Amino acid sequence: MSLPDALSRLPKAELHLHVEGTLEPELAFALAQRNGVRLPYGDVEELRRAYDFADLQSFLDLYYACMPVLVTAADFHDLTAAYLARAHADGVAHAELFVDLQVHLGNGVSADDVLDGMTSALAAAGERWGMTGGVILCVVRDRPVETAHAALDAVAHRVHDLVGIGLDSAEVGYPPSLFVSVFDRAAAMGLHRVAHAGEEGPPAYVREAVELLGVERVDHGIRAVEDPDVLALLVGRGIALTVCPLSNVRLRAVPDLAAHPIRALLDAGVQVTVNSDDPAYFGGYAADNYAALLALGFTAEEFAGLARTSVRASFAADDRKAELL
Ligand code: ADE
Ligand code: ZN
Repeated sequence: MSLPDALSRLPKAELHLHVEGTLEPELAFALAQRNGVRLPYGDVEELRRAYDFADLQSFLDLYYACMPVLVTAADFHDLTAAYLARAHADGVAHAELFVDLQVHLGNGVSADDVLDGMTSALAAAGERWGMTGGVILCVVRDRPVETAHAALDAVAHRVHDLVGIGLDSAEVGYPPSLFVSVFDRAAAMGLHRVAHAGEEGPPAYVREAVELLGVERVDHGIRAVEDPDVLALLVGRGIALTVCPLSNVRLRAVPDLAAHPIRALLDAGVQVTVNSDDPAYFGGYAADNYAALLALGFTAEEFAGLARTSVRASFAADDRKAELL
């Protein structure tokens, strides 16, 4: 078996995946037609040609522009089901999916429709393939903090349908410290906590996420490599990073793959996992992100180690982790 094939067979957990970032152009246009919504692009080719990003914000502008095609529970089900089928083919046995609920609420969609669609697709993948996983409500940090509280209000009656709370969107200028009240409330609701930090923002944001928000994992976190004290904090607390190599290249968080700090993070003793972030936009799903590291000389043993770390860093039940390790 070739090494790329072997990478698809490694049982792994996907821990950094925005469900809206799995919206392939063909599905975006099919949903636009189904719902009578106009996309600001003429066709699939024009949309795909627009996938040329200068930074995180230029991506987010396009990503949010496509979201209004997601209207009904069936749309969220179809989107999630398509991702889970693709992830299953890549050896993803456990998937934790972010959703930008504030944006959907702002578009007039109900929290119940979003969660009904996603949880029904996860349940079907569980029945069909034994996959496990869950939904992480991601706070959209460049929207008013009150709207994050409103999103928590909207899910309070079914908090058992969530595994955690996260923090995403435009990072610089929106430090984790702004969201302490939201994360405290989510923790009191029994939710796990994660946050994007150190993607474009400074290492100080990684420290804030850990010390002020109490996160158990940091999403991206690659700029932690710039501060030995922040690295020591991550290592000392055993906090894993959910690194997304193809995303970092496409959004120019790093100049190219050769300059990616993943190996320096591993050498510093940080727990590192590999994930796909927004695979429809960044040119690859889970196994493609593992395969990208072949160019950095990662060995079969190292890939197996990354997959094991993803399972350990997941919020799966202990018996499920034991099954996958
Ligand atoms: N939302 C979707 N993808 C994101 C990313 N890479 N960083 C921050 N917010 C996001
Ligand atoms: Zn992300």
